[in-house]
Amino acid sequence: MATPNLHVSTHPAVQHKLAILRDERTEPKKFREVVRELSWLLGYEPLEPMTAHELGERIGLVPILRAGLGMVDAMLELLPTAEVWHLGLFRDERTLRPVEYYNKLPDSATVDLCLILDPMLATGGSATAAIEVLKKWGAVSPVRIKLVNLIAAPEGVEAVASAHPDVAIHCAALDRSLNEKGYIQPGLGDAGDRQFGTGRAN
Ligand code: PRP
Ligand code: URA
Repeated sequence: MATPNLHVSTHPAVQHKLAILRDERTEPKKFREVVRELSWLLGYEPLEPMTAHELGERIGLVPILRAGLGMVDAMLELLPTAEVWHLGLFRDERTLRPVEYYNKLPDSATVDLCLILDPMLATGGSATAAIEVLKKWGAVSPVRIKLVNLIAAPEGVEAVASAHPDVAIHCAALDRSLNEKGYIQPGLGDAGDRQFGTGRAN
């Protein structure tokens, strides 16, 4: 898939950890640990080469609740001065459209870079909504927005790339497609449910 702003990691450690997440026998405790370890490895991807010895950018981490919570601790270890701004979005399972239920962005956009954290990019509805929230709030050029996902579907990449070509997407895998319920195939099921032990994996 030729989308210039899509960066799929080819690192063997990333692919190994992803296989553990995809394994339906992986229990929530192990699943949470591996989401965290994989987020650590992916945290390196959106950073850019620089000559200074410390990060020069002010970074805001925007985890999309619930599933994005599992990526926060690892990112904070990597980027300890980052701020964390929680955004609550759930996907209406009937319409597949995102519904916003929580927003803890600060009053003004006082950062250089926003990293949206969400393990799954499926239809792209949630990611597109999150990007729109950030842009309306003031995260516009020169503030940059990047998306960090564990698994992306081509449909979601396409949706984000056409609505927001300025937003780079960093992921551990680009999977085949979505099924009729909007789940990524092969994917790993429902990332929120698998981390927090709710519902059943799809
Ligand atoms: C999942 C996932 C994304 C969204 C992706 O969250 O974490 O936020 O679905 O789907 P999309 O690209 O089609 O919008 P979900 O709505 O299941 O909420 P949860 O994290 O609370 O389980
Ligand atoms: N949300 C998930 O958690 N998994 C999918 O496959 C699609 C949306």
